[in-house]
Amino acid sequence: MLDPVLARIDADMPHAIQRLLALLRIPSISTDRVHAPDCEVAAEWLVQDLRDMGFSADKHPTTGRSMVVGQGGQGDRHLLFYGHYDVQPVDPLNLWHCPPFVPQIEETPHGQVIRGRGASDDKGQLMTFVEACRAWIAVHGKLPARVTMFFEGEEESGSPSLIPFMEANRDLLKADLALICDTDLFDRDTPAITTMLRGLLGEEIVITGPRMDLHSGMYGGAATNPIRVLVRILSRLHDDSGRVTVPGFYDGVEELTPELRAQWEALGFDEAQFLADVGLSLSAGEKGRGVLESVWARPTCEFNGITGGYGGDGFKTVLPSKASAKVSFRLVGRQDPLAIREAFREMVRAMVPADCQVEFKSHGASFASVMDTSDPAFEKARTALSDEWPRPAAFTGSGGSIPVAGHFKTILDMDAMLIGFAMDDDLIHSPNEKYDVRSYHKGIRSWARILAALA
Ligand code: BES
Ligand code: ZN
Repeated sequence: MLDPVLARIDADMPHAIQRLLALLRIPSISTDRVHAPDCEVAAEWLVQDLRDMGFSADKHPTTGRSMVVGQGGQGDRHLLFYGHYDVQPVDPLNLWHCPPFVPQIEETPHGQVIRGRGASDDKGQLMTFVEACRAWIAVHGKLPARVTMFFEGEEESGSPSLIPFMEANRDLLKADLALICDTDLFDRDTPAITTMLRGLLGEEIVITGPRMDLHSGMYGGAATNPIRVLVRILSRLHDDSGRVTVPGFYDGVEELTPELRAQWEALGFDEAQFLADVGLSLSAGEKGRGVLESVWARPTCEFNGITGGYGGDGFKTVLPSKASAKVSFRLVGRQDPLAIREAFREMVRAMVPADCQVEFKSHGASFASVMDTSDPAFEKARTALSDEWPRPAAFTGSGGSIPVAGHFKTILDMDAMLIGFAMDDDLIHSPNEKYDVRSYHKGIRSWARILAALA
């Protein structure tokens, strides 16, 4: 059953690449309202592609970006594939070697790569299982299992419509198991099943001082400066050992079990290389914690953007009216995003002087998730992946957040398995994002094997 499907995948790669390039040309940036129509175009493209494969598929409008749901195949086993067709903004544009939405195939010392926004996160990954299904259907006339495809267009902007959509469409989405393709390989040769994801709390603080921007000579010394207020607050969110100072922040954070610590140590992760690859040499995590532990199993508070005053060319002696910062918390274990939001806001309010106002904007809140690896599907998938890649598959953690993983459990009582083929150097969310053609090809082959194993 499987071999002809794998052969078909190999033979069809040039077309599979062309289809991915077509999807990558659509600038479906979800966080930017200007690109809302492009997100609809991407959703329609996917609906059409699924219909071309014989799926019944529809675009489902929400108050934000549309959802795409397709149904195909038959059988006792019902699998749901999740991916997201939206992408991150492309700034800073001047650092791209090619226009982000004019994707290119490039030769590199590690082989060919597909370069463009969304190549890895998540259009390339999403197309791995679409292409695997296409090959099954082409060879056998039908899929070996019942398959639901579920593609979201708001993942990169906090998924505001996801929970209401899932709650309103339980029957449409409920399957035996969700398969999510939005994570990494452990390394070039070692596939991974990600069993832990961090949660995420996104908060924006806006501090307002004087009613309008002022001349910093006329008013400096007399008027409170919101940038000074803001940086003072931000500088107090960590202590000298790198721990976050928000009261109660570590409630629900547990130490690694000795078994998991040993498993991760056996992976032979090269901390120095991981840092060197991005031009660094010192870990900025909590003192005494290794890099892998800091990224996979410890919570953080990071500043993702900061505004205020004059940032343009040259110099301007302005004392601004407003300053703002985007702050995100990655969460682990049973940390409660809503409790942390309240504690954080309370702490900030207490540091704002009487003459300033503070306003908060919320950018999503999701719990961390830990997968139940006792489901036999995990061992089956592990074997299928090990058959495809040079080294056996590993169970890993991940520092990123994929809120839908938790919602599958809480809303649909469905376990999720996270398997992806991205690499640390794919530059997701950065200029020059890429996906290796090898990731794409072996990713498609991996899903064909997993489909065979799970059906
Ligand atoms: N694909 C990423 C998550 C990811 C990143 C998994 C790195 C494995 C390694 C996903 O699309 C993403 O970036 N999610 C956002 C979440 C969000 C709510 C904006 C994230 O993690 O920042
Ligand atoms: Zn993603």
